[in-house]
Amino acid sequence: MKFIEEINRRRTFGIISHPDAGKTTLTEKLLLFGGAIQEAGAVKSNKIKKGATSDFMEIERQRGISVATSVLAFEYNGIKINILDTPGHKDFAEDTYRTLTAVDSVIVVIDVAKGVEEQTEKLVEVCRMRNIPMIVFINKLDREGKDAFELLDEIEQKLKLKVIPLSFPIGMGYEFKGIYNIWEQNINLFSGDNRKNIEETIEISDINSPEVNSLIGDKSAETLREELELVEGIYPSFDREEYLNGNLQPVFFGSALNNFGVRELLDCFVDIAPKPRAKNSEERLVKPDEKQFTGFVFKIHANMDPKHRDRLAFIKIVSGEFKRNTPYLHVRNNKKMKFSSPNAFFAEKKEIVDVSYPGDIVGLHDTGNFKIGDTLTEGEIINYKGIPSFSPEHFRYINNADPLKSKQLYKGIDQLMDEGVAQLFTLELNGRKVIGTVGALQYEVIQYRLEHEYGAKCTYENLNVYKACWVDPEDPKNDEYKDFLRVKQRFLAKDKQGQLVFLADSAFSLQMTEQKYPSIKFHYVSEFK
Ligand code: G4P
Repeated sequence: MKFIEEINRRRTFGIISHPDAGKTTLTEKLLLFGGAIQEAGAVKSNKIKKGATSDFMEIERQRGISVATSVLAFEYNGIKINILDTPGHKDFAEDTYRTLTAVDSVIVVIDVAKGVEEQTEKLVEVCRMRNIPMIVFINKLDREGKDAFELLDEIEQKLKLKVIPLSFPIGMGYEFKGIYNIWEQNINLFSGDNRKNIEETIEISDINSPEVNSLIGDKSAETLREELELVEGIYPSFDREEYLNGNLQPVFFGSALNNFGVRELLDCFVDIAPKPRAKNSEERLVKPDEKQFTGFVFKIHANMDPKHRDRLAFIKIVSGEFKRNTPYLHVRNNKKMKFSSPNAFFAEKKEIVDVSYPGDIVGLHDTGNFKIGDTLTEGEIINYKGIPSFSPEHFRYINNADPLKSKQLYKGIDQLMDEGVAQLFTLELNGRKVIGTVGALQYEVIQYRLEHEYGAKCTYENLNVYKACWVDPEDPKNDEYKDFLRVKQRFLAKDKQGQLVFLADSAFSLQMTEQKYPSIKFHYVSEFK
């Protein structure tokens, strides 16, 4: 197959949702359709069960599972589909944000009864900011839930999306009869026993035909006609360009658990979802069909075996072909590197591959050379943008609890931060180290891993910080900035990249500082230029 054809047949996407909306179930059903797995239950959920926060075995188990499910690839109708796993647990949100830099589109799963939930809002906002094309799947139609129009309104308002239903439910919960597929113009009847079988659809060329009445009954047929008329009146018609630009979001209804409405979603997805897209670097826009290979690290996973401290760096290929045993330039280190065993991922296994294409993810064994955001090329100096850090929610001093092991401790902290487990800030005043995380769970993970992988011990001490703000002065030489540096010295720190950060201790003090120093901008995100 030609290079261009290989690019055109790839679809790399992520599924995002609030925990429990059905992301794992939907992933599994997509794999079933692709023939990548034979039975339900094969994909393990990588969510951290409630109440498991101090169960280290659980954390370790989860780490294992999240390697296995990091990328799930399968073929469907000649299309190579790469699903990138995104942790649903909010303490790992940063991991999900980073994974979203490697997807070309997303599917958002929403629970019909719960509607738009907190985590969905946050993740969709990130996708919206980056104009990532989104398809919405409203799940659990076999249960009583919100009225379809009410839910579509909620999605538009809370998620600030412009939706267009491409399927529509016929009843719901106990009364759920099936789905009318607006995209393909057919009806899919729900028998309640679709768990094992892939359902058959009935073509409907005219929604007003009496056949519809005999299929779903007079009352439901009438309601469906009225509802479809409303849909036509309220919502715009589907425009693929608008969807690809992130301005229009198609909506599907179904029940992942019952394998219902999933085929419609998948068929439409392979039709409309984008093939690998061009990506901006600091230097220029890089197109996938360029001959020269380029790619970037979006995720690093530590090896499960503490005896071998190597890691797996996940690279998204942006352009060209990635070949085994070929020297590539690690741009940040200005060093050539060769990889003898790059891993490609298929459903549940990984295999060594000779060549990979744009849109694919390869896993490279790493002994500490990579950090998140690093770029590999054939020689050109390119630095991919777009893996920012967000202000953490929790801040604690980290102290060395075993003075004989300080080298191990600092090495461990350094490597864990490169993996993106948490963020490190070094106070300007006294050089003390502060760890910032999204959730409290990370502190336990860090402590555990430092001890088991690096032989180092640490303790924590609380630090009262409201937000970490990256400091962006209009003129670093003006008196206002000098005054700020002097007065706020106690609250200043450097992040791992050496950027200056203001650790505001309250919303009030941040507000006062902003008022006092109007020529300085304070950003909640590390990348603002
Ligand atoms: P997540 O990855 O988004 O966190 O959600 P997951 O797929 O694990 O689904 C969460 C729960 O919702 C699971 O039940 C799952 O069986 C159920 N579920 C998923 N899709 C549907 C659906 O279409 N209809 C109904 N009624 N339920 C659905 P659980 O009891 O939490 O877990 P399990 O014991 O079934 O694994």
